Amino acid sequence: MCGIFAYSGPRTDAATMILDGLKSLEYRGYDSWGVTVKQNNGKLFTEKHTGKIGDSTLPQMESSIGFGHTRWATHGGVTEANAHPHADWHGDIVVVHNGIVENFEQLKSNLIDQGHKFLSETDTEVIAHLAEELMKTEKDSFKVVQQVKAALHGMNAVIMFFPKEDAFFVFKNGSPIVLGKGENELFLASDPSAIRVYTADVYFLEDGEMLSLKGVDATLFDEDGKIKQIEYQKLAYEIEDAMLGNYPHFMLKEINEQPKVLQQIIDTQKDIIQDCADKITEAYGTYLVGCGTASYACLAGTYLFSKIAKRHVNFAIGSEFTYLIDFIKKESLVIALSQSGETIDIISAMKEVKAKGAQLSALTNVLGSTLYRLADHRMLLQAGPEKAVASTKAYTAKIAFLYLIAHALDKSYETGVANLSKAILEVRRIVKQAAELQEMAKKITASNNIFVLGRGVSYAAALESALKIKEVSYIHAEGFAAGELKHGVIALIEKGTPVIIFNPEDETYEDTLSAAHEVKARGAYVIGISSRENAVYDQFIKVENCKDATIIPNVVIAQLLGYYLAIERGLDPDKPRNLAKSVTVK
Ligand code: M6R
Repeated sequence: MCGIFAYSGPRTDAATMILDGLKSLEYRGYDSWGVTVKQNNGKLFTEKHTGKIGDSTLPQMESSIGFGHTRWATHGGVTEANAHPHADWHGDIVVVHNGIVENFEQLKSNLIDQGHKFLSETDTEVIAHLAEELMKTEKDSFKVVQQVKAALHGMNAVIMFFPKEDAFFVFKNGSPIVLGKGENELFLASDPSAIRVYTADVYFLEDGEMLSLKGVDATLFDEDGKIKQIEYQKLAYEIEDAMLGNYPHFMLKEINEQPKVLQQIIDTQKDIIQDCADKITEAYGTYLVGCGTASYACLAGTYLFSKIAKRHVNFAIGSEFTYLIDFIKKESLVIALSQSGETIDIISAMKEVKAKGAQLSALTNVLGSTLYRLADHRMLLQAGPEKAVASTKAYTAKIAFLYLIAHALDKSYETGVANLSKAILEVRRIVKQAAELQEMAKKITASNNIFVLGRGVSYAAALESALKIKEVSYIHAEGFAAGELKHGVIALIEKGTPVIIFNPEDETYEDTLSAAHEVKARGAYVIGISSRENAVYDQFIKVENCKDATIIPNVVIAQLLGYYLAIERGLDPDKPRNLAKSVTVK
């Protein structure tokens, strides 16, 4: 949930590099931030602030080693004192941390009894003090860190900095940490996209392993403390993919990248998609599991599999899946969808799936992520780094995969490709004509509520669209199955309430049109998204019929609408309040 960046090497502008690294990781948490470097004059420098980094700078100084952290608060409010890094009383051990130390209260109370004084309310500060306490009897910092590692409970990624030794120690359980190796220099980050600007050679630390970085030497230790070879792998994307370029926001950039991402899936993923279809055929039962946007992609998948492949797949949201796990057998297949591959609700549930001996397939965007490594079968969305908190291109990429898997099951893969290609053309046209959606956003920006309706796969689209609108514009938006209107929802419709209706020309068309009439009769401002115009719509947005792949351009419209609503309301669509990109805590 937090972002970590560390550097050790010959450069003398480490402080600025670390701040730049944090800026690129800020999507992971933006309540507060902090940097600690050892200056080349030997003095330790720390600066911490609440709020976003924005265009903050650090004082001029020469430094070649240090680290920083962007925080998404869990233990302790958003204050400068609670911002990381945290140090022991003497500043000999400095710590940044992503995750939760579950037993911190017990550890803290023991340390207080031993005379330690704490400056923050965080669980993290306990780590530094615990190390300080252990150092009273054990002078070897490696051994001390091993003891600290063993003492902490919970899912954590921790970097401990011993400035006097120019050393970092790194360990993790659950939360991600990646090591980057440049020419005679080392980087650590929560996400490889922050490192890619310096190097493509990375190593994803495994749970239980420990890294020791001394100057520019990295040593890896397995769970038993034995030295292990570091097998670096190459990141597949280019530097520019992780940068904003000429776009004002990552959300807009990522919406615009969708035609390219979808085309790449068609061009490169056929065998992998067929392989997944075969796994589904062999399995006793298939479960699609995801959180947030990924869960709505899963729900869409159930409709696509049913309609196209005549196959029932189960669906659950990640945080609920562990309560349904009794159904899982050795012969079951679970397909976990996660952009980041780090969402804790998914990771914990998938560990239980593995423990039951079932097969796990991962559909993720991040090579080397925890989910990716946990899975028996791996599918990569190939969408490039997604930095805006609101997921856009990863969502449509997931839908494209599920759609093509359904067609592969049906042995009509080429039909799927043809429809998806048409959908890509539609997305291309929609993003070019985004000004129309900006105008619409102006009309409805003052609304207190927006509703989105659809049936069948468009119901799944309605849920995702409402999420997109609410999370970036803070307007209350809800998606409903159009057929549910008369069972209660219609009570919410007032004069002028915007109601977006997904009405593709499929088996849902006539019934959804009735829903449009019903809300119109109660005064709603009806926005119809369809291939066929109708007088019931106050505003009509045409989307060509791309068969079941129409869900893709339909949701892109809602993505753009959400984006422009945020802009109209003066909000930062990339970093919505209270949210973070990667939800690595429960
Ligand atoms: O990385 P994941 O796909 O596992 O993330 C799941 C959700 O946290 C994520 O989709 C979230 O709902 C987004 N903010 C939606 O835009």
